[in-house]
Amino acid sequence: MRTHNIAVIPGDGIGPEVMDASLMVLAAAESAFGFTAELTQYDAGAQHYLRTGELWTSDLEERLRGHDAILFGAMGDPAVKPGILERGFILAMRKAFQQAVNLRPVKLYPGVATPIAGLTPERCDLVIVRENTEGAYVGQGSTVHAGTPNAVAVQESVNTRPGIERVVDYSFRLASSRRGKLTLCHKKNILIEAGNLWQDTVDDLSVKYPEVEVDYVHVDAMCFHLPVAPERFDVVVTDNLFGDIITDLGAVIQGGLGVAASANLNLDGSAPSMFEAIHGSAPDIAGKGWANPVGAVLSTAMCLAQLGEQEAALAIEAAAVQVLAGLPELSGPGMGTDTAGVGKEIAALVGAGLPPVAGRSVMEDLAGLKVK
Ligand code: NAI
Ligand code: MG
Repeated sequence: MRTHNIAVIPGDGIGPEVMDASLMVLAAAESAFGFTAELTQYDAGAQHYLRTGELWTSDLEERLRGHDAILFGAMGDPAVKPGILERGFILAMRKAFQQAVNLRPVKLYPGVATPIAGLTPERCDLVIVRENTEGAYVGQGSTVHAGTPNAVAVQESVNTRPGIERVVDYSFRLASSRRGKLTLCHKKNILIEAGNLWQDTVDDLSVKYPEVEVDYVHVDAMCFHLPVAPERFDVVVTDNLFGDIITDLGAVIQGGLGVAASANLNLDGSAPSMFEAIHGSAPDIAGKGWANPVGAVLSTAMCLAQLGEQEAALAIEAAAVQVLAGLPELSGPGMGTDTAGVGKEIAALVGAGLPPVAGRSVMEDLAGLKVK
């Protein structure tokens, strides 16, 4: 029996709601595909912080390090000042566990409504690789004369050659296994120091991957191309901040934040990878059952793909897509059912032997590109 030892951090707001739905689907996959997921739940997030003052602790770090993977719900709460949980926990985990790649597929599934008129699934099937530990998110900077009319804020973007190289190399490997095209997205005409380091790294590594065609797009132009001509892209590699922004745009194109999934990959085997929907804790709809859990369910499938359960991952994807295509609306009271209801419907279809979704699946990408 294959056993996977998985940490579960539901977090705040809709995090626990979409996590519950994901775990229903995971349980269905275990019985259909003959593996065991040993789950350990960790209490973390706003309530835990308000009660104990604890965020990311060295004790938690050590306990989490022993798991094969981490499933994460979402964090953030109106009762806690913005940034405390997000930086103090999520960014701390990505950094501590060197989850260097934030992998975010942008795939329009058949039957899913997109706000882009005329867009078809064949034209929208790409993966964005966001650098996940550096850039403007290192939390380096200072404010002088804070709170006075002369306040000066300096926020630094830190870009290291090794940090860039590992995500660019991963992106080349990914592109090589997909349609063979890699696009660097940056703002190298203005941010010349960082932009040149990124471009030099892509140029240098491209020699190793002659089969991959290399392209470059400025991040502002990306906001135009992504909705209008997503077929232009196969793999897009970009820095932390740009990646955060353009992947929300990507999510909208593929049907909204409730649908978009992500993997935070540790590439050297030194710590577990972490899987989460790209949305946050959505306090505006928490407790209502209005959250679409598909982004979380697909993130769980990505986790299984990474753990070597490709068949189960593809089956979850096919089941989620079938349920998604049947929802009258993709979130809110118009979904026709609630968050748990969507989870149940997907779980019921996981063992049904549905054919895999057409086109290249990120589940195959993850299963094929074994990291150490
Ligand atoms: P958000 O992603 O939580 O919500 C944005 C909008 O999308 C809201 O109107 C929400 O109702 C809707 N939405 C999000 N997920 C949905 C789903 N699954 N189904 C249906 N509708 C959904 O972003 P927001 O409002 O900017 O942030 C809320 C909190 O979450 C903040 O504290 C923020 O810092 C935190 N956050 C945490 C993240 C994480 O845990 N990785 C990522 C992004 C934000
Ligand atoms: Mg974001």
